[in-house]
Amino acid sequence: MKKTLITLFVVTSLLYACGGGAGSDTGNGAPAKKDVTQNPTYIAGLDLVSKSGCLTCHKANEASTGPSYKSIANKYPNNVETYELLSLKIIKGGYGVWGQVPMIPHPDLTQETATTMVKYILLLKD
Ligand code: HEC
Repeated sequence: MKKTLITLFVVTSLLYACGGGAGSDTGNGAPAKKDVTQNPTYIAGLDLVSKSGCLTCHKANEASTGPSYKSIANKYPNNVETYELLSLKIIKGGYGVWGQVPMIPHPDLTQETATTMVKYILLLKD
């Protein structure tokens, strides 16, 4: 009996450790999504895109002049290559990926600032 309890304890704590490492929740992922708004990168990035006029052309969930941030997030993997690609695109502007409407350049943004914006956008992935 004692052995069984110990085994149970070990298994449970292992499961617990795995769940905790992957994010605040396991399971269907819905509760973890809700937590995204508490992520410091989300808060910092949202503040930056609000202050920098990005929201005149981009909405989080629906296309306007530019693609929605959610569709951008779903198009790219969340990795360093994407941070670099998209932060440079924000700084230099460009067109042709989503259509013929160009995105204006933002040459006064540093790559670090633009990268924070990109990380925020990628958090909106479905
Ligand atoms: C004048 C309108 C406008 C503004 C302001 C604007 N964008 Fe865009 N953005 C666009 C358009 C249009 C596209 C699609 C460009 C394309 O098809 O290559 C785009 C594309 C993007 C993409 C995806 C690029 C790609 O290659 O997939 C990101 C990321 C992005 N914008 C972020 C931002 C951020 C962050 C800001 C604020 C600093 C911003 N945008 C300001 C119009 C705008």
